[in-house]
Amino acid sequence: MSSTILLVDDEERELNSLDGLFADIGMNILRSSCASDALGLVKQEEIAVIISDNKMPEMTGLELLARVRAISPDTLRILLTSHADLLNAIDAINRGSVFRFIVKPWNKKALRNIVQDAVGRYQLIRNLKKEDEETILAAAQEIELKDPLTAGHCERVAQFAITMGNALRFSPGHMKDLKKGSWLHDCGKISISKKVLNKTGKLTDHEYDLIKNHPRWGADLACQAGLPPSVINIILRHHERFDGSGYPSGLEGNNIPLEARIVTIADVFDALTTDRPYRARFDDGKAVEIMRMMQGSVFDPELLELFLQQCLNK
Ligand SMILES: [Fe+2]
Ligand SMILES: [Fe+2]
Repeated sequence: MSSTILLVDDEERELNSLDGLFADIGMNILRSSCASDALGLVKQEEIAVIISDNKMPEMTGLELLARVRAISPDTLRILLTSHADLLNAIDAINRGSVFRFIVKPWNKKALRNIVQDAVGRYQLIRNLKKEDEETILAAAQEIELKDPLTAGHCERVAQFAITMGNALRFSPGHMKDLKKGSWLHDCGKISISKKVLNKTGKLTDHEYDLIKNHPRWGADLACQAGLPPSVINIILRHHERFDGSGYPSGLEGNNIPLEARIVTIADVFDALTTDRPYRARFDDGKAVEIMRMMQGSVFDPELLELFLQQCLNK
């Protein structure tokens, strides 16, 4: 089922040009020229994304979007604003009542990208809320498609993690979380463009910052979907390093949750043994050699031994 976008502007001409912008991206478009009608639509329909002008006679776009948040918290809210209202818009982002704002006159490509990103997030959160494993795996695989070379990565990571979890006698509930967290560990990449994910050359500082944000972005999505804390731990902490030099928080040693330390090992092994845009795959022996050099710095030393024994018979 295609997602629905609601456009709100008191000027017909503006509504027409917004409408034209999204005509070919396979979504249902609803439009409203007044805020109270828009609120009525939000109550009746499942709206993935609302895009509202700020300057309207009945109430401002900011007020409208705050009300939309109360009625339909999962709807992604985008504000079209003028330079004069920029500070209010930034404040609204910081308070979480607006997902993004666009300063008028808007740039077509930027607005389309923001809306497509918003729709992707909306669908992901809805799927994660369904809780059934098939839907969650399918959602993780869809994000994986952004980088064709990583096809199958999240399932392989889960397989290694499950083997380690079994060896550590995790409870059935903990095993379920370990599996879901492994599938979803990179779900924050939904907000990173294919261009950056597939870049073969060196990343710019800005691009690297984007990549480094994926654990936080993913954890935010998982929180919003109400996933359990140990699933969120995996998403948020799978790039922490045992010596404290990782990201996003530089957690050290056992302060990094156990399930995240497990997934870090599975994630790196799978990354080393598959082709990447910037290098060919290593064979298992070479990958183990490289990982041994990071035992105690990147990886929990005891867990690395467990991984080698249980997953690779070494
Ligand atoms: Fe990652
Ligand atoms: Fe990964």
